[in-house]
Amino acid sequence: MSKAAQILKERLGEFVPRVALTLGSGLGDLVERVEDAVRIPYSELPGFPQSGVSGHAGELVAGRFAGTPIVMLAGRAHYYEHGDPAAMRPALEALSAIGVNTLLLTNAAGSLKPEMPPGAVMLIEDHINFSGTNPLIGEPTDRRFVGMSEAYDPELREGIKRAAGKAGVTIDRGVYMWLSGPTFETPAEIRMARILGGDVVGMSTVPEVIIARFLGMRVAACSVVTNLAAGMAAGELSHQETKDMAPVGGEKLARILEQFLGADTGFNA
Ligand code: HPA
Repeated sequence: MSKAAQILKERLGEFVPRVALTLGSGLGDLVERVEDAVRIPYSELPGFPQSGVSGHAGELVAGRFAGTPIVMLAGRAHYYEHGDPAAMRPALEALSAIGVNTLLLTNAAGSLKPEMPPGAVMLIEDHINFSGTNPLIGEPTDRRFVGMSEAYDPELREGIKRAAGKAGVTIDRGVYMWLSGPTFETPAEIRMARILGGDVVGMSTVPEVIIARFLGMRVAACSVVTNLAAGMAAGELSHQETKDMAPVGGEKLARILEQFLGADTGFNA
């Protein structure tokens, strides 16, 4: 067991979370709603990322949310920070080692569809890894040949759709296309992305999905649309726009997740 996993075990004691939720832009406030919260800065957990992206603090918050024992990850490593697609592997391995078997991911993304404008929430049904890299490159065992046909767990997807319905929040569905960033795309790249079958573009999540599937975790992920992608609306894209717009869809997604985790999901077992 890694040092980080040992520290987590020591700090959490009897508490065994089964679910981890990665908070993307716009969802950071959710940590305030964790009951009986144990907050651990990533700096105290060897191997956890020291993220430098504004709007992404580095902290793990364990406790109950909507009745479910959960670990929230406020802050993640992005490939574009250091060029390491496996930067989240030690963190996810530590969580897996202490009993987390389900990973819920959230992110901010640019939409390729005018009918899915800023403020929309999209359930990711599949992804396109357009980064040219993979977090399992260098993994020496045959375990690296991970099947990705149902990377986004069908049962969790159904549950999230049902929860959105109950919460009265519209949720779109589609394909997340990962491009490395940190630049936003060009309009030509966005035309390409649409031809290739993307519905949103973003700079995160896919590496974590691959690592989590490698570790045998169940995965679900949602995007919060912060902008129409490059060339689809007037003006230049900016990180400020992402940060300003993320809370709009983030608030909707928080309601969906609260409903989802409050339902009889079996996460309490
Ligand atoms: N492109 C890539 N990543 C993003 C975008 C975008 O338009 N918006 C938010 N994250």
